[in-house]
Amino acid sequence: MSDKSKVVFVKDGHRTEVEVLMGTSMLHAATDNLVNGIIGECGGDLSCATCHVFVEPEWFDRLPSAESEELEMLEATAEEPTEFSRLSCQLSCVSETDGIVLHIPDSQ
Ligand code: FES
Repeated sequence: MSDKSKVVFVKDGHRTEVEVLMGTSMLHAATDNLVNGIIGECGGDLSCATCHVFVEPEWFDRLPSAESEELEMLEATAEEPTEFSRLSCQLSCVSETDGIVLHIPDSQ
């Protein structure tokens, strides 16, 4: 089995596919690959909400549920959250998420 996992980021209709080591956070999958629009100002400390993504609906239920701290922080995002919103710093790239599609908010 591969020790890598793929994430597809979509921003303004542009898709960027990255492959990272299993266990990498989706925030770092983006920032390590210079994906535009995922900022991650606080480095994953759940205090900035600049790592907000809209998970493609078919992938949403495959993710572990958000903890209360993440849900609180999702109220502070620049772009209005939806039922498919998550903070990418709280998500890990694992085999279950191989190929996941994350949409980056326009205003981020
Ligand atoms: S990187 Fe700051 S809340 Fe996710």
